[in-house]
Amino acid sequence: MEIRALGADERDAVRDIGARAFGPIPDEEWERRAEASRPMWEAGRWFGGFDGGGIVASGALHDMTQWWHGRPVSAAGVGGVTVAPEERGRGLGRRLMADLLRRCAEFGHPLAMLYPATTPIYRSLGWEHAGAQHHIELPAEALRTVAAERVPVRRAGPEDAAEAAAVIGRVHAQARDSGPVGWGEARWRGLLGQRDDYVYLAEDGFLSYRWAEGGGGLEVSRLVASSERTLRALWAIVGSGSSTAGTVRACVSPLDPVLWLPRERPPEIVHRTPWMLRVVDAPAAIAARGYPAGVAAQAPLLVDDPQRPSNSGHWRLEIEDGEGRLEPSGETSDAVRLGPRGLSALYAGVPVSALRRSGLLQGGDAEALSPAFAATPFSLDYF
Ligand SMILES: CC(C)(COP(=O)(O)OP(=O)(O)OC[C@H]1O[C@@H](n2cnc3c(N)ncnc32)[C@H](O)[C@@H]1OP(=O)(O)O)[C@@H](O)C(=O)NCCC(=O)NCCS
Repeated sequence: MEIRALGADERDAVRDIGARAFGPIPDEEWERRAEASRPMWEAGRWFGGFDGGGIVASGALHDMTQWWHGRPVSAAGVGGVTVAPEERGRGLGRRLMADLLRRCAEFGHPLAMLYPATTPIYRSLGWEHAGAQHHIELPAEALRTVAAERVPVRRAGPEDAAEAAAVIGRVHAQARDSGPVGWGEARWRGLLGQRDDYVYLAEDGFLSYRWAEGGGGLEVSRLVASSERTLRALWAIVGSGSSTAGTVRACVSPLDPVLWLPRERPPEIVHRTPWMLRVVDAPAAIAARGYPAGVAAQAPLLVDDPQRPSNSGHWRLEIEDGEGRLEPSGETSDAVRLGPRGLSALYAGVPVSALRRSGLLQGGDAEALSPAFAATPFSLDYF
């Protein structure tokens, strides 16, 4: 199988294998998605695998950032991974993914993230479960009265892409969030121009929501704010629909402040869509991430990463004053031993005790690493 970047004029070539993998897409929706993904096609980030002339596999690499403890880290978002049904089960999927992983490094992304429909193929290449997109259902009535004061908000559209990206970025930075994704301006323009989405911008907050399919409820795709007053005002806008919308399904962090706002907190229905993380370039990923102030940790690491040999070897990991460093070191007998899956899960805040007992980390004294990497990663975007 030969894998190469597809041109924008080859977009329709992936429609058929995409439909066979994920279901058919009506023409209008296909055109909308084609427009939304235009920057990716133009940047040569959609790939096709060819065997005997026809396309047998496909996958794409979104150009994104991902906040880790409040710092945006360059990341690839792997999506649309597909092998033609008649060609599955003979190693093409794994070959495609190995190729995409190499390209993530070539594009200069220290991290790669994906939503797995199945886990083994990605684990075999060093991805590990790291976080989730959480949807929670709340009674709209509980939100109706949470506002404490009126806060200036305005309706926003595609022309506000840069401002929306900046506001949302500031919220994630200030909250020291881990996991949310940031997009380039072109993609924000697409997201802000979706028909039937209601989008509002405040000085320090952002809201986008829509009617749930079939009516009867509302769906919040993104509601973030830095201050309590803006947060309350934006949730109250959503809750103001309680006379016609009984429930609000919202994409939020599992520790989202909205859970502490309403007077009544009924038992929650939470739906988790898990995502996996791959540390592509270990020293760059460690240096780009944020860490809690006042937490210091040091450990000798021995990394064995067969797909990314530049991550392999003896390292000295040091975290201090909110900064992390991974530097090559000499051999030590007390090193903490990890593969790419253990390293990726550690990076995402999975506690060392869980990593040890799941066989993803061995040896050494790694206890101090848990508070340094502590995180509850979430995502507000699916791709
Ligand atoms: C998932 C998919 C890309 C795998 O492609 P493939 O060419 O069949 O995969 P490979 O032959 O390279 O198999 C790689 C590994 O994944 C495993 N695998 C493949 N399909 C699987 C499935 N549906 N469930 C569980 N494991 C699966 C294989 O057993 C193999 O593991 P092993 O070497 O330990 O046996 C393909 O089945 C597909 O296109 N599915 C529909 C779309 C989809 O789910 N895409 C993934 C979106 S994240």
